[in-house]
Amino acid sequence: MKLRGLEDMPDLKGKRVFVRVDFNVPLDKNGSIQDDKRIRHALPTLNRLLEKGAKQLILATHVGRPKANETKLKTDIEAHALSKLMNRSVEKIKDWGGSHIPEAQIIMLENLRFHPGEKSKDTSEKNFFGKQLANLADFYVNEAFSNSHRTHASMTSVPAHIPGYAGLGVEKEVKAIEAATTNPKKPLIAVIGGLKADKLTAIYNLLEIADYILVAGALACNLLKAKGYNIGDSKSDDEGMEEKTKIVQIINENKKIQLPTDFVVANQFSESARCKVVSANEIKPGWMALDIGPESTSKFVTQIKLAQTILWFGPIGVFEMKPFSNGTKAIGEAIAKNSGTTIIGGGDSANAVKKLGLEAQMTLVSTGGGASLQMIEGRKLPALSVLSE
Ligand code: 3PG
Repeated sequence: MKLRGLEDMPDLKGKRVFVRVDFNVPLDKNGSIQDDKRIRHALPTLNRLLEKGAKQLILATHVGRPKANETKLKTDIEAHALSKLMNRSVEKIKDWGGSHIPEAQIIMLENLRFHPGEKSKDTSEKNFFGKQLANLADFYVNEAFSNSHRTHASMTSVPAHIPGYAGLGVEKEVKAIEAATTNPKKPLIAVIGGLKADKLTAIYNLLEIADYILVAGALACNLLKAKGYNIGDSKSDDEGMEEKTKIVQIINENKKIQLPTDFVVANQFSESARCKVVSANEIKPGWMALDIGPESTSKFVTQIKLAQTILWFGPIGVFEMKPFSNGTKAIGEAIAKNSGTTIIGGGDSANAVKKLGLEAQMTLVSTGGGASLQMIEGRKLPALSVLSE
């Protein structure tokens, strides 16, 4: 996909630019930012726009999934964090501009999802809000890859009214994921873990390009259950498993899909639970699989060592709890040591990589879970389609 980028923008002297960022950062229970990666990620684009002479940057983001315009989800804290990182003042305004916008060089609008138009299912209400936002600026920049699978007003309606461009981070993520999925260096290994069965579509699409798909996490339990294994009290996500017969047929016919052969099981979901290693066909009622076992880990690591391209989506086990973190650690370290292309997608796997201190050794730790997954599923991201030539 060829996106219009910052270098394609005309002279910005005296111009206002609306920048859709994704500052949907994790907050602790007091509302403090736990990880400012997404804010730091936008800095090169913001600095580049200022270097290009932009008179004003109008920044907008969503934070969380607000139900009642919760104070904690206002964008003041993100504006403050950005101001510190840029060492410039950032003026937070309490709404979305309306008829008056201050003259400050960098403005932060209120949480977009506080406005009913942002996610409205009523197209005219959504477009109306999109037009209102577009009226604030001369140009639009999307620096929110992680929200680009959404068709919200700030993602697709604003660039319908003013010329839209992709930010540097968006371009980088798109290029890296495209390079790894179209015409990748082989062997390509996909490691798919995590909880949700919605990754099955990605697995079907990956069958065409991957040499092996290593499945772990609760997703592996889902597939084993579909094959008729007893998974005891292990978590499984039945949503997305409606086409069970098709799934089982695909797994049985495709040697590419590799399921764990052993698990670390526990008698409760707790760090202090009793735990033991059992074969995949020996999970008894009262026990739940919380990590893959040493045999599966060793098989997966051997395959990862041979790969030239690796896509990793979703943690291998419950890595937040020490007794169930070995699989994620071993797989993460094997991927980090691989000198080929390594793409990490999804918030939880990105957190695992961060916790293991392996971020710098990966080709790309994507800022977006849903967005990068949709890309490897072969789906077009609507907010990027509007920026393509
Ligand atoms: C994300 O965190 O993946 C993006 O900010 C999108 O958020 P959403 O899943 O609430 O739409």
